[in-house]
Formats: sequence, C-alpha cells, structure tokens
Amino acid sequence: MKWLTKSIVCGVCLISVSVLASNGETANTVTPDSTDIEKGQHLFRTAGGYGCSTCHGLYAQGGGNAGGNIRGKGLEALNLILEKEPTMVLLGPTLSADDRRRLSIYVTELGKLNLIEWTIENGVIHQNGNIVAHKSNQLVILNKTFNFIEFNFPKVISQTTVTINPYETLAFQWHADDKPLDLKQPNYDVKMQTINELK
Ligand code: HEC
Repeated sequence: MKWLTKSIVCGVCLISVSVLASNGETANTVTPDSTDIEKGQHLFRTAGGYGCSTCHGLYAQGGGNAGGNIRGKGLEALNLILEKEPTMVLLGPTLSADDRRRLSIYVTELGKLNLIEWTIENGVIHQNGNIVAHKSNQLVILNKTFNFIEFNFPKVISQTTVTINPYETLAFQWHADDKPLDLKQPNYDVKMQTINELK
C-alpha cells in the first residue's frame, strides 16, 4: 500500500514537470480559461447584489470610488482584504473558494492591460495614463455628464463609432503600435500620446 501511494505521487510529479518543460511556461503565464474570466467578470459586477464594481469601478480601475484601483491584485490579497476591510467583510461569506479564484483571475487579467482613463466632466476630458506602444491597452471612459456622447475612433480600436450614455462606463481594448492616436470629435479634441514602456 505504501509503495502504491509513493508511485502515484511520483507519477503526478513527472506529469507536471513534463507539462512545464514542454510548453516552457510557468503557471503564472498560462492563459486562464475564458469561462473563468467571464464568470469572474459576472461576479465582479453582481457579488452581494451590488458588485465589486460599486466600490472599485466597472473595470477594477477605481474610477473615483472608495475602494480604488485593484487591477492585478491576486487571490491572496482578496482573501486577506475580505477578512480585514469593514466594507468588504459582509461579502466574505457569500463568496465560495471558486468564486474568489475566478474574481482574482478576472482582476489579474485586467492588470495585464495598460490602463488609460478618460473622465468626461463639464465639457472636458480628463485623461489619466498614456498609450503604451506594443502592448495591450485598455481605454476606460466614464461619461459623467447627462449627455449622450458619440466618439469616432480610428480603426485600431475594435468599434469605430460608439455612443456613451449618460453616466455610463465603457472600455475599449487594442494592441498599440507606436503612432499617436489622434481623435477629432465634434466637441472634444484629444491627442493621445504613445510612449514606449520604460525598461
Ligand atoms: C462597499 C465597498 C466595497 C466593495 C463592494 C468591495 N470592495 Fe474591495 N475594497 C474596498 C475598500 C474600501 C478597500 C481598501 C482600499 C484601500 O485601503 O485603499 C478595498 C480593497 C480591495 C482590494 C485590495 C487589497 C490590497 O491588497 O490592496 C481588493 C483585491 C478588493 N478590494 C477586491 C474586491 C472584490 C473582488 C470585491 C467584490 C467581491 C470587492 N473588493 C468589493 C471597498 C469595497
């Protein structure tokens, strides 16, 4: 019996070593399951009935809310804060181990994107962050006005024309080259600088 347990343990070791060696990746760089990311996003928006997004922004970017930007935070940080943070402890018992794992996968994935934020308020776009060349970028736009705002984006962004409703948050993702993005809108003239990431 002892021998059998040992050989099973060893068999598991060999398999995991060969998997790591064959694709040359460590567990951290493996792309997570897309269903985990989707379920994580759903939970992020609905947990406890109001979602993490109420306090951390729709894309975990903070967006001026109490909890701030948590992009890139992992499972350990989540488990710790669920016991510590008075505003979050109520959520703790509602989240299973699997829920927490998926939430942290989603937040970790968002952390891989370079964040650029636009907050539209009083006729001005406040920009936070620049485009980083040769990287996946995410532009998160928060329309803090009572107007519908139409944007014509250049072809690089997935949708070229979008309308952002009053008090809506929208996000766009694209892989940037090193050219600046020049956006001419009827009401807003925005030039987004592209920078090369500092090594
Ligand atoms: C009622 C508001 C509120 C809600 C809802 C909320 N949080 Fe938080 N969260 C906070 C506050 C406040 C902090 C602490 C911010 C600080 O200390 O700067 C925080 C911090 C965090 C941190 C940061 C831990 C660290 O190491 O910095 C993580 C991760 C986090 N929350 C994840 C979540 C997730 C996931 C959810 C949804 C299940 C959630 N939060 C829902 C208010 C909230």
